Amino acid sequence: MSSLTGTEAWRRLSAHHAQMRNVHMRDLFARDPQRGARYSLEAAGLFLDYAKHRITDETLALLCALARERELGRWIERMYAGEPINNSERRAVLHVALRADPPPREVGETLARMRAFAEGLRRGETRGATGEAISDVVNLGIGGSDLGPRMAARALRRYCGQRPRVHFVANVDPEDLNAVLEGLRPESTLFIVASKTFTTAETLMNARRARAWLASRIAEADLGKHFAAVSTNLAAAGQFGIAPERIFPMWDWVGGRFSLWSAVGLALMIAIGPEAFDELLAGARAMDEHFRAAPPEANMPVLLALLGVWYTNFFGAHTHAVLPYAEDLQLFPNHLQQLEMESNGKRVDREGAAVDYQTGPILWGSVGTNGQHAFHQLLHQGTRLVPADFILVRTPTDARDAEAHRMLLANALAQSAALMRGQDDFAEPHRHYPGNQPSSTIVLPRLDPRSLGALVALYEHKVFVQGVIWGVNSFDQWGVELGKRIAQSLTPMLAGISAPGEELDSSTRALIRRLQQRPPE
Ligand code: F6P
Repeated sequence: MSSLTGTEAWRRLSAHHAQMRNVHMRDLFARDPQRGARYSLEAAGLFLDYAKHRITDETLALLCALARERELGRWIERMYAGEPINNSERRAVLHVALRADPPPREVGETLARMRAFAEGLRRGETRGATGEAISDVVNLGIGGSDLGPRMAARALRRYCGQRPRVHFVANVDPEDLNAVLEGLRPESTLFIVASKTFTTAETLMNARRARAWLASRIAEADLGKHFAAVSTNLAAAGQFGIAPERIFPMWDWVGGRFSLWSAVGLALMIAIGPEAFDELLAGARAMDEHFRAAPPEANMPVLLALLGVWYTNFFGAHTHAVLPYAEDLQLFPNHLQQLEMESNGKRVDREGAAVDYQTGPILWGSVGTNGQHAFHQLLHQGTRLVPADFILVRTPTDARDAEAHRMLLANALAQSAALMRGQDDFAEPHRHYPGNQPSSTIVLPRLDPRSLGALVALYEHKVFVQGVIWGVNSFDQWGVELGKRIAQSLTPMLAGISAPGEELDSSTRALIRRLQQRPPE
């Protein structure tokens, strides 16, 4: 028995689950007319309704007892104190310091440099080698050096200025960069190489390809005028040819997937402007303050985390759906996939012992209403329990769109109500909806930088809390290394420079041979 499954709260939750397993939420609602109001909470401008969950007051009390038994409060303080809670890498975890007010000195200095750089570009004062103003900025980065700023720039589309246009390229598939470069000119394009380590193969390949593209029109000595970098590895960025004043530092105490608030957000700041970026930080800070101060029972990230534990570990749910009813949040599930799955997709605890319980679920999802016409069938009548988060925005971005926006909101509410309630039809089983599918509903007042900041921070803290409950290190990602090493050895084999050796399995060897064949003319 592990330290988690051996806790008193876990034992009591297991017994409680046996009583709750077959309880229908319909009956819970029928018994308590105040349920909707009681199971709701406001924090940092966000509203959370968690009434449509398979829980009672007792469930919540036991889940909060579990958080206490796992010493959540102490872990939060250890994080804030800068203790090396990322123990496998011996690093502190201080993304909260990036949005502190006032920020630590080095953070404040970097933010000031970012602001000046972003303003220069937005005012059209930053010029390329030929004297032309920069019209397009391309962020070259992947994973945490891409998903956060890309998601936020999409979400805050309405806040983006006309110039410069900001693009994101992540994939080493050459078509990603090719597609972006198609409409651009070297003379007016600036690349930001965003890589915490400055060793990520895909990003460096794209940076080299970008340099070659520029070199067709820009003299070698002037290429630096078309680059900036974001990294902890200042030396490697310098060796690539980027001038020190164009290198924006980040620190090893910021995890890639938590780095939106750091200089990794530079492309976003250029797109939305420093003031809107400050608002994003302020929204996250408001959520941080709530997270640090509120007791588990009234703590939004803690409640979301504990509900996830309830379904993952006691109901055996394998996945978790995130369903933003906001087209501009279309990349939010992608961002959360890295945040949650890279953080809590772990099989050993912090001490290296194999866990005897499930950890992070598979996170997936996409925007409504589109999903209703695609995968919601499985949610309504499939065989699986799929907890979901509905994310709603109360006010339309443009008041003239009120009618369509109302229809959007009506659909979101209809889905969560239908999933909870279901509808009996025993005469025609194909028309029967069992219901009892749990969901949370998160309401943003509007899709603005402040609300987005609070929303992203909400999920960051949720991930941290789940990591504490599961006893895993949420801040390393060793699982991605093996594939990187193998890819490195396969590249020369595909080029025919080295031969596939016996260390490779016969399937991979045969695939290499097939990929080397020329396609028929
Ligand atoms: O391969 C995983 C990963 O290390 C992520 O954790 C990270 O966000 C991404 O690659 C990019 O890393 P870097 O910013 O160092 O290029």
